[in-house]
Amino acid sequence: KEQLKGRDLLTLADYSKAEIGYILELAAQIKEKKKNGEVYEPLKGKTLGMIFEKSSTRTRVSFEAGIYQLGGTGLFLSSNDIQLGRGEPISDTAQVLSGYLDGIMIRTFSQKDVEDLAENASIPVINGLTDDYHPCQVLADLQTIKEVKGTLEGLKLTYIGDGNNMAHSLMIGCAKMGLDVAIAAPKGYQPNENITALAKSFAEGTEVLVTEDPIEAVANADIIYSDVWASMGQEAEQKVREQAFAKYQVNNELFAHAKSDAIFMHCLPAHRGEEVTADIIDGPQSVVFQEAENRLHAQKALMVALMG
Ligand code: CP
Ligand code: NVA
Repeated sequence: KEQLKGRDLLTLADYSKAEIGYILELAAQIKEKKKNGEVYEPLKGKTLGMIFEKSSTRTRVSFEAGIYQLGGTGLFLSSNDIQLGRGEPISDTAQVLSGYLDGIMIRTFSQKDVEDLAENASIPVINGLTDDYHPCQVLADLQTIKEVKGTLEGLKLTYIGDGNNMAHSLMIGCAKMGLDVAIAAPKGYQPNENITALAKSFAEGTEVLVTEDPIEAVANADIIYSDVWASMGQEAEQKVREQAFAKYQVNNELFAHAKSDAIFMHCLPAHRGEEVTADIIDGPQSVVFQEAENRLHAQKALMVALMG
């Protein structure tokens, strides 16, 4: 607990298994308090700034509602409106905001920008999604898996789709927490090799598999995960990607190759008929809305741990 105070969350690679476990434990307690209507305001008087260079529904609303529920205040800072969008250096922005705020959440393109912000800020910086990582989503995902399956260790998560931010963060989160992880992605869209090697270095006796074959990847899976084929910033590639990923749709046929009690997860927003069919995402084995709700609880726990 003491080791998390004042820290940044740039990627889960920087957190130990025990630290992630502690946040998940706290998230479960915080969720319980909310369900019981208990007031819990350990961040009274604290302010979180939230910089967005990309769109968001879940991240924005869950962080903003979360900081209010914890007794603090959230500031939505669109990069179109702050001077960062007009070229003010990240390092200056970091130093200025550190004088006003108690934490910064940032959603942007380059991971390097988040690292620069963190390096120059004296307050915790939280990565709310970059092109490379989405650690907050994976905290909520792990919380959801634990709720539904009762455990994390020994399970297998299979991700089908683009080998970018979600694939990277899932590989790292699963490897750290004792789940086997398989990624199925077409050639040219596979996860970054350095990040794959990093994930493998965290695995203690579990598997990190990257393959082009979705059927091989889903064998024995407890969780099937998908994400959009064209991420934010890649809209112009939509048509090319629809062709490249055509064989990577999560549908009944593919799902039949997983365990019979496998669950379906998706970070959302989803495109029904593209990466997943409606009967899967809206079907009985989908937990996507429980997963989305857990963004709130997991991030409240994260903020309490880092900013408390
Ligand atoms: N899953 C996720 O991060 O959603 P938003 O883009 O709506 O924040
Ligand atoms: N891969 C998606 C995730 C959205 C939460 C994107 O980057 O747009």
